[in-house]
Amino acid sequence: MMRQLKVERYGDQIFNHSTVTEDERLLALAAELDPGTFRRIEALPVRPDWRCLELGAGTGTVARMLAELCPEGSVIATDLDLELVRARREAQPNLTWLHHDVTRDDFPVGTFDFIHARYLFCHLRSRDVDLSRVVNWLAPGGWLLLEEPASFPIESSPHRAYRATGMGVFTVLADRIGTDCRWTRGLYDHLAGTRLRDVGLQIDHSLVGGTHPMGRFWELTVEQLAPALAALDGITEEMIEETLARLRDPDFRELGMATVAAWGRRP
Ligand SMILES: C[S@@+](CC[C@H](N)C(=O)[O-])C[C@H]1O[C@@H](n2cnc3c(N)ncnc32)[C@H](O)[C@@H]1O
Repeated sequence: MMRQLKVERYGDQIFNHSTVTEDERLLALAAELDPGTFRRIEALPVRPDWRCLELGAGTGTVARMLAELCPEGSVIATDLDLELVRARREAQPNLTWLHHDVTRDDFPVGTFDFIHARYLFCHLRSRDVDLSRVVNWLAPGGWLLLEEPASFPIESSPHRAYRATGMGVFTVLADRIGTDCRWTRGLYDHLAGTRLRDVGLQIDHSLVGGTHPMGRFWELTVEQLAPALAALDGITEEMIEETLARLRDPDFRELGMATVAAWGRRP
């Protein structure tokens, strides 16, 4: 079957924040990733008066954590769609939510002491250009921390249906949104190729199956993309059903996506 290439932006259709399960999908992602993110942020030389920028904030868990960590500073949390933070906008006087497209809208050069983005750059077609613009928004001495998904643990899975369906997810996202989870594999080199210094690299692995939140995130991702997955060569509805059944099986254990984290400081 010919692959249907419908070019769109994140959220136009796929992962639209009004989709019934999108809040739960992104909360499961946050439950999986927040401990590693918070650990990495707290390992930086954080000052209470830092001016922070959280790009593509999603449900806003990291933005709220930053607002607590920097009570004398400020946090701007951006997203294309603020629907998912609307219900949770409890008053934090130093936290501002901003409708902002990182690929189109700017900030003045040298504005922030800390910028964080998680699972965002993989979805941006113009990610290399966007990265150098974002680096410009850092004040001298400011830190950038990026955390992005990598597909290789799924690519090498011994479970045929899980592997094929999972790789199908990356194909659908690449075709429709321009997502690239191989770019993220080279995140250290991408940051080292900018003017950032003291560049560091870490990786966190995840598990699916049992009660692991990454399993729920992946189940809701596969469910949402099921019609597009079934239209791909080599993926049948039975394979999608088998994958979903595995992910719901309390005795299933497999590797989920890895999270590659890299950070650096503007001199
Ligand atoms: C996979 S979610 C990750 C959410 C959050 N960073 C997290 O890790 O919990 C990607 C988020 O980036 C937002 N996003 C996608 N493209 C964007 C863009 N061009 N500018 C700003 N936000 C964007 C989406 O709306 C979504 O909330």
